[in-house]
Amino acid sequence: MSGIRCVALLGHPVGHSVSPAMQEAAFREVGLDWRFLPFDVVPERLEDAIRGLEALGFVGANVTVPHKLAALSLADRVDSRAGTVGACNTLVFRDGRREGYNTDVAGFAEAAAEAFGDDVLRGARVVVIGAGGAARAILAACIEMNARGVTVLNRSVERAQSLVRAFPDSATTLEAGGLDTFGEVLEGATVVVQTTSVGMAPGIDAIPLAWPRRLDGVAVYDVIYNPRETRFMREAQALGARVCDGLGMLVAQGAHAFALWTGREAPRGIMREAAERALQKWTDG
Ligand code: ATR
Repeated sequence: MSGIRCVALLGHPVGHSVSPAMQEAAFREVGLDWRFLPFDVVPERLEDAIRGLEALGFVGANVTVPHKLAALSLADRVDSRAGTVGACNTLVFRDGRREGYNTDVAGFAEAAAEAFGDDVLRGARVVVIGAGGAARAILAACIEMNARGVTVLNRSVERAQSLVRAFPDSATTLEAGGLDTFGEVLEGATVVVQTTSVGMAPGIDAIPLAWPRRLDGVAVYDVIYNPRETRFMREAQALGARVCDGLGMLVAQGAHAFALWTGREAPRGIMREAAERALQKWTDG
């Protein structure tokens, strides 16, 4: 179908998202006169909102915090990754059905490969800090990429334990612990992934935990992309780590969603530039 078509972003809040700029730049680049519209939806109205989008002929939606779990249960069918992760970040409305996908898993795996090399997760010993929605997708990616072991550390140990329990049959060894065990767990780790919101603007001086030793050869991925360099990353780099921010994951998950909505390959370079520009604008106020 030609002409104007729309994709929604459903979140609460959605104010500072760079996805509209990133997706609309991609639509323009491939010659589609499409729009990407953010909607702030309270959890009680998520189902109504989705019905409304279907009635209005939207192509689909990106779903973000706090709706990713609910979106999964509202989908008519889900892809295996969304099922495994227990969360859905992309909806496609096709032939009267709601298809649910999780593009965060591939998003993380690709961003880590791009930053640190294709085999960075294969056989890796990974420490994941945080046990929320982002950690869930990243744990799934580590398992899919055949990491040797993953230890999830979280402020609330119970939450780390329950995350690990959600992946019972994994060939990757999974463990859970509190933030106080970081020093111990870091011994032998090859990859550290920071998934909490600690250090995100405006609280840029915050750090989820202190680095206890040198990090030569360790790959440190922080899912935060605003600011581009968190204090956690800066300190890791000073201790010898290779570091990467979360922009690559944002772009890669968005690129997969773009392909699902449009059936075309996403112009990733254009998307990254647009996201960088939108972030810069946000920073400059
Ligand atoms: P998301 O879906 O973005 O991952 P979330 O589900 O709210 O967000 O999870 C936020 C994560 O950041 C959690 O792991 C949370 O720890 P708790 O489970 O103990 O709450 C972690 N987090 C948030 N603020 C933190 C802080 N000040 N120090 C340490 N961890 C923090």
